Amino acid sequence: MSSLRPLCLIVCTTALAACGNNATDPAGATPDAALEADAAPDPAARPALFAPDPAAPADDDPQPAEFEDLNPDPAVVEVDLTASETTQAFLPGAPTRVWAYNGRVPGPTLSARPGDRVIVHFHNRLPEATTIHWHGLRVPLDQDGVPVDGGVAPGADRDYDFVVPDAGTFWYHPHVRSDEQVERGLYGAIRVAEAAPVAEVELPERVLVLDDVLLEADGALADFDYTDDDAHLGAHAGHLGTVMLGREGNLLLVNGVANPALHLDRARPERWRVVNAANARYLNLSLPGYRVRRLASSGGLLPAPEAVPDSGLVLVPGERADLLVEATADTPDTVVLRALAYDRGHGTDSRPDVDLARVQATGVAPAAPLALPEPLRAFEPLESVASHPRVVLNETVAIPGGHEAHGATGDAPAEAAEAPAEPVFTINGEVFPEVTPMEAGVGRTVSWDIVNDSQMDHPFHLHGFFFAVPPNAAGRNARPGLHDTINIPRRDTVRIQFQPDDRPGDWMFHCHILEHAERGMIGVLRVAP
Ligand code: C2O
Ligand code: CU
Repeated sequence: MSSLRPLCLIVCTTALAACGNNATDPAGATPDAALEADAAPDPAARPALFAPDPAAPADDDPQPAEFEDLNPDPAVVEVDLTASETTQAFLPGAPTRVWAYNGRVPGPTLSARPGDRVIVHFHNRLPEATTIHWHGLRVPLDQDGVPVDGGVAPGADRDYDFVVPDAGTFWYHPHVRSDEQVERGLYGAIRVAEAAPVAEVELPERVLVLDDVLLEADGALADFDYTDDDAHLGAHAGHLGTVMLGREGNLLLVNGVANPALHLDRARPERWRVVNAANARYLNLSLPGYRVRRLASSGGLLPAPEAVPDSGLVLVPGERADLLVEATADTPDTVVLRALAYDRGHGTDSRPDVDLARVQATGVAPAAPLALPEPLRAFEPLESVASHPRVVLNETVAIPGGHEAHGATGDAPAEAAEAPAEPVFTINGEVFPEVTPMEAGVGRTVSWDIVNDSQMDHPFHLHGFFFAVPPNAAGRNARPGLHDTINIPRRDTVRIQFQPDDRPGDWMFHCHILEHAERGMIGVLRVAP
């Protein structure tokens, strides 16, 4: 199967539903649904940000469950995974109806070692079709979770079966209507340990799957109809809001818990595997008072650890970081892990910093920082490549009446103010599935210039392959290590380079702001055998 054509139906249907005045409710837009929409809570009454009371009892040190491995062979991880509707109390006393893997948000962590075979018996008990994308795992194309033939129908089952080639921190999530399905709670972490330990001492590990959910005051998940939903967006209120910026939540979650305490022994540095599972929120993570070093990017270990300053480390939606978190003699007893404001365009610089967790330390810190091997991981030098095809990201505001404002600023032209239209997100001027594939070949080095012509940052994700980030033509924006997801700053260019291994076919790349992807900000990498 080397074609993405079967996807069209699903994505087109979603796009059409989203472009009309109707809710994108899978039940469809019946007159009843329309009435219900009128009676829906007023978005303006929704809290801008819930601030959980630190004194209220929270589930401390939350960790996602681990899968039960059903297979006695140590080289095979065989698990059962069910997606279904359930409830979870993100706000005390106000349960939220969620969609969850194995009954809990986040779903269980999948732990494996490079070379392990993973078999997942997946059961879809949701009211609609779904799939699972193993974000960052270099799996065969037919296991990648793009919804060929409509995906896994409600009530149906399918097995995913693949070998895990690389160490790193990855995650899994649906690839059908992902803007809704991920927001409803369908995501989990994947941890693939290095063959040899990174440090001489054993590092206690924590998985931190970070998300934000948009809730009404009563705990209900805010609906997915954004037509008159933008009052809380302040400066960019109006029809551009939620779709333009992507859906940002008003409650921050760490492993499904709001503002938990994380208890840490100063004597024992920890390795945190951090996943940004939010639809659209950029997380600029800051933990002052600790020595924080980034060990791994989305493509596994870095060549050398990178110090994370108090001013923060930006993790874009879909991206991961492995952090070495060490207390020093000066580390206070309580430090708040925050996501600091980050300007990704369209007025987002005025957002407040948000609290994620309270990190509470006891014990005595070692005198010296933990020594790490040099290099942490050896990389081959990159090949020099002559041509750099452009992949241009852009946004357009379609104005009823046929005009279009290319590279719109988000401040809709005056004549459009009373005639709302959704922004359109494009790659090379095209909207998925009507796209021209980018051609490549097995074993041949590819170098692309990802050009962001729009007025906001977009997180770029390539399925199937890791890429390096050499300097662009202007000598800027290089990043060490390998990646599958990376920020493309607005009005800027990031060069990526990779060499497809022997998995020919049509692979997706897309913006990981899920509202953008589901409205067509997806391209196709066609790898010829
Ligand atoms: Cu995590 Cu195609 O995405
Ligand atoms: Cu985007």
